[in-house]
Amino acid sequence: MASTLEIRPLAADDVALANRLGRDAFAAPAEQPDFGDELGRSIAHTWVAVVDGVLVGYALGWLAADEAQLMSIAVDARFRGQGLGRALLERFLDELVRVGARTIVLEVRKGNAPARALYVAMGFELLGERRRYYADGEDAITYRWCAAT
Ligand SMILES: CC(C)(COP(=O)(O)OP(=O)(O)OC[C@H]1O[C@@H](n2cnc3c(N)ncnc32)[C@H](O)[C@@H]1OP(=O)(O)O)[C@@H](O)C(=O)NCCC(=O)NCCS
Repeated sequence: MASTLEIRPLAADDVALANRLGRDAFAAPAEQPDFGDELGRSIAHTWVAVVDGVLVGYALGWLAADEAQLMSIAVDARFRGQGLGRALLERFLDELVRVGARTIVLEVRKGNAPARALYVAMGFELLGERRRYYADGEDAITYRWCAAT
């Protein structure tokens, strides 16, 4: 049977599963979002990917004035490599532009090849590098995406 994909805003009922997804995807607690907190944060915008009724991905961003930051994105490891990350990010960019974002920035671990390839494929441009940005000493790479004028 073909599976169904829905991409929709985070709801209160999603918090436990989204938190677990973040914990599974990121080893460092500082990189694991708390979606309970995010739900109450007016600048936060979170979109989730739901396959056959099960939450399997999220994209979380903060928007201030016309600049957004992609704070975190993750897809359940069992569902990676199937286009879900791209679909989520596409929807996230569309929705953030709809609510006023002109640019979207992000940081990513230098060694995170899958995520970096996704960002470049989506039109993010390299901004710079932050030496030893993460607690374990890894460098961060920063990217920026600009909405079409
Ligand atoms: C990054 C992540 C969200 C990508 O999700 P995904 O659903 O696997 O990605 P998709 O299947 O939509 O792939 C989209 C593009 O990403 C890139 N990509 C995805 N997986 C890749 C891999 N293992 N190696 C290289 N590039 C990869 C490719 O450019 C791919 O496009 P293509 O299929 O046309 O080649 C996922 O790997 C993830 O959750 N990683 C752990 C959390 C994380 O590191 N988040 C980013 C923190 S900044």
